Amino acid sequence: MAFDIDMIKGVYTKMAERVDKAREVVGKPLTLSEKILYNHLWDGTPTKAFTRGKDYVDFAPDRIACQDATAQMALLQFMQAGKSKVAVPTTVHCDHLIQAKDGAAVDLKHANSVSSEVFDFLESVSNKYGIGFWKPGAGIIHQVVLENYAFPGGMMIGTDSHTVNAGGLGMVAIGVGGADAVDVMAGMAWELKFPKLIGVKLTGKLSGWTAPKDVILKVAEILTVKGGTGAIVEYFGPGALSMSCTGKGTICNMGAEIGATTSTFGYDESMERYLRATDRADVADAANKVKSYLTADPEVYANPEQYFDQVIEINLSELGPLLNGPFTPDLSTTVGKAMTEKAKANDWPIVVEWGLIGSCTNSSYEDLSRAASIAQQALDKGVKMKSELGINPGSEQVRYTAERDGILQVFEKLDAKIFTNACGPCIGQWARYSDPKNAPKNSIVHSFNRNFAKRADGNPNTHAFVASPEITAAIAIAGRLDFNPMTDALINENGQEVMFDEPTGWELPPKGFEVKDNGYLAPEADGSHVQVKVAEDSERLQLLAPFEPIGNSITGAKLLIKAFGKCTTDHISMAGPWLRFRGHLDNIANNTLIGAVNAYNQKTNFVKNQLTGEYGGVPDVQRQYKAKGIKTIVVGDHNYGEGSSREHAAMQPRFLGVAAVIVKSFARIHETNLKKQGMLGLTFANEADYDLIKEDDTFNFLDLNEFAPDKQLTLEAVHADGSKDLIKLNHTYNAAQIGWYNEGSALNLIKIQNAS
Ligand code: F3S
Repeated sequence: MAFDIDMIKGVYTKMAERVDKAREVVGKPLTLSEKILYNHLWDGTPTKAFTRGKDYVDFAPDRIACQDATAQMALLQFMQAGKSKVAVPTTVHCDHLIQAKDGAAVDLKHANSVSSEVFDFLESVSNKYGIGFWKPGAGIIHQVVLENYAFPGGMMIGTDSHTVNAGGLGMVAIGVGGADAVDVMAGMAWELKFPKLIGVKLTGKLSGWTAPKDVILKVAEILTVKGGTGAIVEYFGPGALSMSCTGKGTICNMGAEIGATTSTFGYDESMERYLRATDRADVADAANKVKSYLTADPEVYANPEQYFDQVIEINLSELGPLLNGPFTPDLSTTVGKAMTEKAKANDWPIVVEWGLIGSCTNSSYEDLSRAASIAQQALDKGVKMKSELGINPGSEQVRYTAERDGILQVFEKLDAKIFTNACGPCIGQWARYSDPKNAPKNSIVHSFNRNFAKRADGNPNTHAFVASPEITAAIAIAGRLDFNPMTDALINENGQEVMFDEPTGWELPPKGFEVKDNGYLAPEADGSHVQVKVAEDSERLQLLAPFEPIGNSITGAKLLIKAFGKCTTDHISMAGPWLRFRGHLDNIANNTLIGAVNAYNQKTNFVKNQLTGEYGGVPDVQRQYKAKGIKTIVVGDHNYGEGSSREHAAMQPRFLGVAAVIVKSFARIHETNLKKQGMLGLTFANEADYDLIKEDDTFNFLDLNEFAPDKQLTLEAVHADGSKDLIKLNHTYNAAQIGWYNEGSALNLIKIQNAS
């Protein structure tokens, strides 16, 4: 059995007591989001109300999901925790490392050959530590999670931004970095700033050409790519009740595109239907017993302004199909004429070269069936396909059922390519060009979520527009960006004008879902004998060794780099081609800080080696210090480490021997990641002291042996002329985090605690 009904029942059993108590301490009716959050407090029954957008709170998620790219370093780290099994049900999904080129059969074989070492590692480590493993071709993580694991009222974290998709089944599901996932796998709490709440009231009903996708495209237009930051978006109202569960998943999925922490919907009949159709009648039965706890208190939706930080209302009956893009998902244009004008004004190519249907956002049975209804009309009415069409089904279950029901064959008759049940073009795994950088300007339409430059095909000149699957199908067939299927005719092979009828489809397969091999491998009950597979000479994977404690005496340290201005996690650990090495710390460390600007010469990857007086690349210079046993510090500006939760940005400097990162201010997640890796993450008590740091300085920490919560540290900067400055440094380490530092890392400490 893939899901754990006892765990789900356990969540529901404690719900009444905890939610009732939460209502008491908060002192007013609760939103659904608050009910789920308060039912998942690490400390159990709530004892006080938390301030939204301010308080950091420890939570106990029910599940973890990891995709193949991010799982590598997460699991390598988890192996350091000395545990025999993951503490929380966890699954790994192989979906990111599969290229789309010639169609599923050929592409999957190719992926299994070029990434076999990664898949073998993930499979063996999953088997050893009690983790469910979904093989390459089994499906896209978020579709598979929705079909198998998501449940109303649950809390999940996942090492992928679109983990939020599971909100379609009433979860609070949040994308996190590998370090957070490792903590929870190892049995620790997960910390989150208590989110703000945005309510979206949906009135009216979707009809005709309008789809759930248009709801989130509209929300993106209203809130923009930053409007959801730090907030949970909770959808409600009659319009929400009238939508399918997978449609709700689409809306929650693209909550990531507005920066939302997550999005969710209250439990309703569409969710019950979906649970029963996906062989989880027992989950539906259990949820029905606690129904009132799986949606907001009635007063909340009656007077939303009183309970949410912001409320938006959208009338679905008035909503029309939208095309969002190019290069950003919040730039909306109504399908049709408005696009003719806008494309002309902005010089967007009006001819559409490709239509792509799928991704974790829109690859459900309903999505495929509605898009196929348009494709079938093209066949019936003798309309020739003007663009190329690619389809990525969301899971093997969806693919198998869609093939059984003749849906995929409709696309194939239009010469569409059916790619693997995987991310494919959505994550740039699309072999569209041999030289993408110099490829021509063009437009594509897809039903994915992200559309920034180069995302799909690596071509900076590809203008990608986001639309519903049915609009994507219609526009791809017409071959024009400004085609409006509601008003425009097409000329068929006989020279006649024909029009599309409205799309039709099935919320769920009329004959039920079916699958022969869903691609799931359950772990062994006792995996202690399983050998984790990592080749000694692998370029992509490397087992980790525990970090040695840095110790409480740092003297004679050198400056590796004083970073000027913005220094994001991407400046510290670049993505792009380096992602290939994300499971090999030594290899990926060769990109450490190569994007940071050196404050002394305004150049990137060009720092002075104090041992030779020569300039070199940051990783090279740092490796020379390391070889001589010399500790180094990194100095930075404001909001150092902003961007993503990528743990590599902390692990790499640590691995290369950097002892301390001292900045004007930190992005909080990166600061925590440095602490977890057993490093010093410190801030200047007086920001202007940043200017005191000179290129040739030597550094001594004067009172590190007294490292304690709320106590400043003192740094002595000895300048080349022998003069000295004393610099006061602040820190936010609590006693437990000082324990991480003393033991060399949080995982080292967990290992010691497990052993005792
Ligand atoms: Fe995969 Fe694209 Fe979703 S990369 S997980 S299909 S956003």
